[in-house]
Order: sequence, then structure tokens, then C-alpha cells
Amino acid sequence: RKRVLSGIQPTSDSFHLGNYLGAVRQWVELQEDFDAFYFIPDMHALTVDFDPKTLAERTRTSVAQLLAVGVDPERATVYVQSHIPEIAQLTWVLQCITGFGEASRMTQFKDKTAKKGTDAAGVGLFTYPVLMAADILAFEVDYVPVGEDQRQHLELTRDLAQRFNKRFGKSFVVPQAHIVKEFAKIYDLQNPTAKMSKSAETDKGLINLLDDPKRSAKKIRSAVTDTDTVIAFDRENKPGVSNLLTIQSALSGVGVDDLVAKYEGKGYGDLKVETADILADFVTPLRGRVAGYLDDPAELDAILARGAERAREVAAATLDSVYDKVGFLRPA
Ligand code: TYM
Repeated sequence: RKRVLSGIQPTSDSFHLGNYLGAVRQWVELQEDFDAFYFIPDMHALTVDFDPKTLAERTRTSVAQLLAVGVDPERATVYVQSHIPEIAQLTWVLQCITGFGEASRMTQFKDKTAKKGTDAAGVGLFTYPVLMAADILAFEVDYVPVGEDQRQHLELTRDLAQRFNKRFGKSFVVPQAHIVKEFAKIYDLQNPTAKMSKSAETDKGLINLLDDPKRSAKKIRSAVTDTDTVIAFDRENKPGVSNLLTIQSALSGVGVDDLVAKYEGKGYGDLKVETADILADFVTPLRGRVAGYLDDPAELDAILARGAERAREVAAATLDSVYDKVGFLRPA
């Protein structure tokens, strides 16, 4: 079977709607037909400000959310990045074949250091994409389901895989991004030309899955639209309305065209209220399931232990091949 792999950072108390619609929802579908590896990149979480206790909690809550949306640990290998030391070991080798200029051109690094400058950033933030490449290349992955904002990191991963294979002999499968166009970029409700993100200036345009649905309904009701009154899908001229249509379509399974037809003659208020209702129907049982998983941390730990065991087997074999290829003398 072909393999898929993806990760979501434990840098927030809740997944947001962009994480879910852009990526995690695809993970649930893909586990049916692929050998799936899904993990929490806790090492990546050290590249931004963090608090140790909160990090541990968020790592557990992230796993609970994955299970609650339908990631099935019987089908998918679910694990925490730091449980797989081979990833860090592989990162070192990959760093040594990554160009300094190449890493400097990563737009996420440029964005994240734009305000405070590079003196305020750790070297880990700079090499973040190489760690991400190791996450993927350690596992002989065919497809990586992610949102649009990860595309450049996937390109770097492919470049590094090809470069290593060419220079030292084949160790890596060259992975492909799996990006679902309609949902690859969910926008901020207050600023509908920017992606929904936990690092926006305010959280007024951010929908967290674990928030009280009343709070999210309020945010949806105050979503920025336009001065027109017609409900139509037009990303260019009606980004706010198009974003709400995309969200409602994703959550309801009704196509955008059918939604536009349904809303003919109706107002933005109707679109907002119904989108909020559909969101509430989705998150209410989800919140209950997350709480249930968090009530049984021993079960979560057991799932992660099984996942780590399976993941380490695969990663260790890749690392072995890489170490041989680069000429490391192995302990007798
Ligand atoms: P992270 O944790 O920021 O986001 C998790 C996933 O959510 C997607 N996403 C979005 N999709 C659509 N609209 C949005 N507004 C939106 N915001 C976020 C992201 O594209 C991502 O797929 N570097 C990764 C984590 C990572 C990883 C990996 C992913 C580490 N190692 C290996 C794949 C493979 C990240 O920061 O995602």
C-alpha cells in the first residue's frame, strides 16, 4: 500500500477550522486506503515561545482531537515526534546537504522574522523545514496531505530527497504534496484575504474547534463581508462571502454551487446564521469526544506507545540506509 504522512503542531489549545478543513479532515479519509502515519510535531513547537507544562497538555489534547475527528489508531500509526529519535538524527544529515541560502528563502521563516528580526529567532526556527523534511523522508512517504501554506516546505523536502539520492545512492522516496484545492486555504473571518491562523493579531477571525460554539457563532455573525447583498462565490471581489460558502460547503457536504442556488434572494445574515448552526452541530459532539479521551490519559499513552514502536521500526531502517550511504562507521 502507498503511504501518507502528516503532522499538526501542538502550539495551541485547539485545532482551528483551517487546520481541520485544510488538512486533518483529509487524513481521516486517506487512512481508509493508505498506510497512514499521523503525528504531533512537538519538536517543531520549541521553535516558538513555549511553556513546558502547556506543551505537554497541548500534545495530549492534539492527540485527543485527532481521535475525536475520526483518526483511527487501529488503521493509522499515531505518534509524537519526539518519541522517534531517528527523526532528529536524520535531521542532522539533511541539514548538511541543505544550502544556507536555500533555507533563507523559506517564506514562513521570512514571515515569522519580519517583525522582530532574525536576532529574536532561534536557529531552530531557521532549520524548521529541514526537521519537517526528516519527518517525511524517514518514512518512505508517497503523499503528504497539507494545506497550501506547507507547499514550499514540501518542495524543499522533495529537493533534499532527490539531492541525497543522486549524490549518495537511493535512500529516499520522493514525496508529493496532497493539497485539496477548494479547502487548502481557509481565510480569517475578519481579514478574508489572509489565511486563518492562530498567530493573527486578534483571534476575532479564528474559529477554534474546541471553543464554545456560541463564541464561534458570534465570530461568524461578525465576519467581514462586503457592501453588496448578493450571495455569490467570487474570491476576488467577495472574499468574505466566498470563505463562508467554502466553510459551509465543507461542513455540510453540499457543493458551493448548490449553496449559492439555495441562498438566492436571501441575505448575508441567513448565510452566517446557518453556517454557525452547522458548525455547532459539528463541534458539539466533537467537544464531548475530546473530553472523553482526555479523561483516560493511560489509554492515550498506550496508543502513542504502540504508534512509536511501529514508527521507529520504519524510521530506523531508513536511518540505517542513510548512515551507510554517507560513510558512517557503524559500531561493531
Ligand atoms: P500546522 O500545525 O501549522 O498546521 C496543520 C495543518 O493545517 C493546515 N492549515 C491550513 N489549511 C487551510 N487553511 C488554513 N488557514 C490553514 N492553516 C493551517 C496546514 O497547512 C497543515 O497541513 N509544518 C507543519 C507541521 C508539520 C508537518 C510535518 C506536516 C511538521 N512536520 C510533516 C506534514 C508533514 C505545520 O506547521 O502545520
